Amino acid sequence: MTATAADQQAAPNTPAGTPASPAYSYSQTDWNSAYGNVTTELEGWVESIEGTIPPELQGTLYRNGPGRLERGGQWVHHPFDGDGMVLAVGFRQGRAYVRNRFVRTAAWLEEEAAGRWCYRGVFGTQKPGGILANALDLRLKNIANTNVIDWGGHLLALWEAALPTSLDPVTLATQGPSTMGGVLGPQDAFSAHPRLDPGHNGAPRLVNFRLKAGPRSTIRLMEFDPQGQLTYQRQDRFQGFAFLHDFALTPNWAVFLRNALEFNPLPYVMGRRGAAQCLRSRPGGRGEFWLIPRCAGAPVILPATEGFVFHHVNAWEEGASLVVDSIHYADFPMVDPAEDFRHVAFDQLPPGQLERCTIDLIHGHMERRRLSGRCCEFATVHPRRQGQRHRHVWMAVAQRETGNAPLQAIEKLDVDTGQRRVWSAAPRGFVSEPVLAPHPHHAAEDAGWILSLVWNGARRASDVVILRAADLQPQAVLHLPLAIPHGLHGTWSTRDITPTAP
Ligand code: CO
Repeated sequence: MTATAADQQAAPNTPAGTPASPAYSYSQTDWNSAYGNVTTELEGWVESIEGTIPPELQGTLYRNGPGRLERGGQWVHHPFDGDGMVLAVGFRQGRAYVRNRFVRTAAWLEEEAAGRWCYRGVFGTQKPGGILANALDLRLKNIANTNVIDWGGHLLALWEAALPTSLDPVTLATQGPSTMGGVLGPQDAFSAHPRLDPGHNGAPRLVNFRLKAGPRSTIRLMEFDPQGQLTYQRQDRFQGFAFLHDFALTPNWAVFLRNALEFNPLPYVMGRRGAAQCLRSRPGGRGEFWLIPRCAGAPVILPATEGFVFHHVNAWEEGASLVVDSIHYADFPMVDPAEDFRHVAFDQLPPGQLERCTIDLIHGHMERRRLSGRCCEFATVHPRRQGQRHRHVWMAVAQRETGNAPLQAIEKLDVDTGQRRVWSAAPRGFVSEPVLAPHPHHAAEDAGWILSLVWNGARRASDVVILRAADLQPQAVLHLPLAIPHGLHGTWSTRDITPTAP
């Protein structure tokens, strides 16, 4: 098994071209070897497995990320501009069935036929033909690459600036853009970070938002029942520009952290940069919490601290306070527009760190404290703890304890005691988001399994690692016959996608 034991120190390995130093647990060559086009769409039982898949693990891991990074010899400027490719790994009776499909949006089909990029990318990918070909072309291409959820009978591939794309949950065949049953208009957006309320107000709800940003920003909050029907919505306007990638949810509040950023669209309009490359930290700026009630009542706006947040972990109510765990960066981790993403210097970027904000709703104070200093991203809690106080957090972390570095390990942190367990894929493995599959028969907060797609630098291909959630002991490693670039988010579903036995 490629798994290394908890907290084991990895053999030092160095980025190509840098002097040997135990500070490095990886080589940049291995990291970069994940960047390429996914060349096949396949389905079949996984044959190469180390260890034993727990027979109680029944359901499907869905996962999305960029799968097309080059067309006609031209690479994307940043992998986040790559077209979405959805992976499904179904588990039944100790076996695993894998299927992968590109999300066939209208733009994807157009570019496939043309054999080149026909659209600009938000992260700086330009159409062929230089500035003149790109200036004033403000069309957005729905790349459907950020997340995938199973809700209301549909599998939805999500990208935050456009409509969801509906897929067949079993075959992954693209069905087309979804208006969520007529709730969204054809040009609407739907965040890639919906939150699932497991039933704190009586029944499960999928809650999501749409942001319209400008000198004033509008947030539309929408709630859907398990059949996909809209049960509640509201719209609120706030002063100032906002970039909101994620939010947090409690039984009574939708919690938004508006980062102190500003947006100068001129280089985008003039064809020199992608829209996301025009975001900047607002010097001396502080963020704000925008708290929107999930029923009648006005939003509450409270000052937050400096720094930047992409992702929240969870939030809950405690008396007259709201507690929000998030991954904070000291500053907006902006990548130099001129830099080749394959040469990114991890050490020069601020690390993401798990922090807790406690907001006193009566007096308007906020306290912030660090829960873990280790560089992390993609943190999660047990789905039934969404909106409730949690004790355990699972997250992707760097192998080293300080500074920024690629995510190579999975950590389980007990936030009450500070105890942590680590499973590491270093030196040649690179983890992605840990997804928790709850145990079907045990209700404990850490009963179940952690699933993560791991780039195996030795095999130049992707593995799925199954860890026991309680102690991160590896159960099985699936060697997929696929090479999937470093990607984004996914979810667990109890749906069975495996073919029925012959
Ligand atoms: Co995200």
